[in-house]
Amino acid sequence: MLLIKLNDTIELKIEKLTPTGEGLARFGEEKFVVFVIGALPEEKIKAKITSLNKHFAHAQIVEIIEQSKFRTKPICPLYNACGSCNLGNVEYNYLIEQKTSILKELFCDLIDEKNIFNVIKSPQIQEYRHKIQYPCRQTKNSKRILMGYFKTNSHDLTNIKFCPLQPSFIAEITQYLRDNFEFDCYDEKRDKGLLKNVLYRVSNYSKDTFLTFVLNCDEKNYKKYYEDKFLAFSKKLSSKYPNIVGIFANLNNKKTNKITSDLTLKIFGEDCLIETLENEIQTKKYKISADSFFQVNPKSAVELFEIVRKNIKEKSSVLDAYGGVGAIGIWVSDKANKITLVEENSSACVMAKENFKLNNIENFEIFSGDATKHFENFKKENKIFDYIILDPPRSGCEEKGLKDIAPLAKNIIYVSCNPMTLKRDTKTLINCGFKPEFLQGVDMFPYTNHIESVVLFTKK
Ligand SMILES: C[S@@+](CC[C@H](N)C(=O)[O-])C[C@H]1O[C@@H](n2cnc3c(N)ncnc32)[C@H](O)[C@@H]1O
Repeated sequence: MLLIKLNDTIELKIEKLTPTGEGLARFGEEKFVVFVIGALPEEKIKAKITSLNKHFAHAQIVEIIEQSKFRTKPICPLYNACGSCNLGNVEYNYLIEQKTSILKELFCDLIDEKNIFNVIKSPQIQEYRHKIQYPCRQTKNSKRILMGYFKTNSHDLTNIKFCPLQPSFIAEITQYLRDNFEFDCYDEKRDKGLLKNVLYRVSNYSKDTFLTFVLNCDEKNYKKYYEDKFLAFSKKLSSKYPNIVGIFANLNNKKTNKITSDLTLKIFGEDCLIETLENEIQTKKYKISADSFFQVNPKSAVELFEIVRKNIKEKSSVLDAYGGVGAIGIWVSDKANKITLVEENSSACVMAKENFKLNNIENFEIFSGDATKHFENFKKENKIFDYIILDPPRSGCEEKGLKDIAPLAKNIIYVSCNPMTLKRDTKTLINCGFKPEFLQGVDMFPYTNHIESVVLFTKK
């Protein structure tokens, strides 16, 4: 029988931080697991049970009885209302130690603990975000425009006037939009209203910025009613903020959780944003279209890509799978005699082709479409690669895809933004005859719970 009930207030001692960024405590003799948002290791707290099942409960802090010495003043005044920097109240070096501990605990049964290295700090810990997505809504009566983030686990919008993780000028542009946007914003309940989201993409190097309006509208109506007006508004906007070099409309009139549709139309300006990545060894330039992926924290991406590069031997054939605009393939290109890129997003494939040329890489091949399908074809054709780089989305790779590429690769370098799916896929690769040599965490997402990691696998 459970010792605790909903709404009970209990005393807890927090044992550790979980991969989702919550504090974990164990209650009573049964050591019943309780997760507490905002609680840090070693803290003694009073917490109210907000949900529970047979296996664990969630609780909310009521009082901190003994505070962690690593708890700091939040980096943002909206910390309690927003959730975007969910660990923005933790001393940075300590947070890095915690992220390392999370990786060690998660992977110690698969990788020798001495080969799970300390997470590398981000060279930039604030204003690092390359991509910002703001849902847009309006207040019921006054019709005031709200742009910001949803509170954790809800669709209540916090109007964000400042975010320490974003380049500071984004706040100014967003305020201009709130004050001057001429159309209505989306009402989720009624599935009515035009502006669903605004998306920003910012070059960390030049601060050039792309802005995309996500509109609840089809192409015919957009062209008929809105195209000219958005063009006039966009010209005004970019003359006021000259670092906005491209403005787009993404037409998404489906009621789904997907923020954007596949239909992006240019309103004004450049077709692609240029990002520059550099370290003491090399400088690479990347064209990025409004709807293609780029790493969230470009300075930290350099650290990540350099780990991949250092682990590739000269004159290797490299498959850059889930390759996006070619970011990793191009960074490691001095080690490769040929780069093969696989990417599902056709616009990213167009960028990748231009990026290979922009960086003077001649020996490349690009396969557009689903990675698993291409892996199956590569297997049929007996293609062999010295290195396969995998950098899939949060959901990880399909098991079938991993099994298909296993015979084709001497080495696999797996880059992951989700330790849980990385663990699952590590087990599959071990079963396919690979040995994980090391795991290196990289802090791509400072002040949040997210952890980027690289694992080098070699064939046993
Ligand atoms: C985490 S991003 C990595 C991109 C690139 N490696 C980089 O560093 O910029 C994952 C990429 O996989 C692509 N993608 C998602 N699902 C895919 C699939 N099933 N097949 C191929 N590519 C896919 C996405 O479009 C995205 O570009």
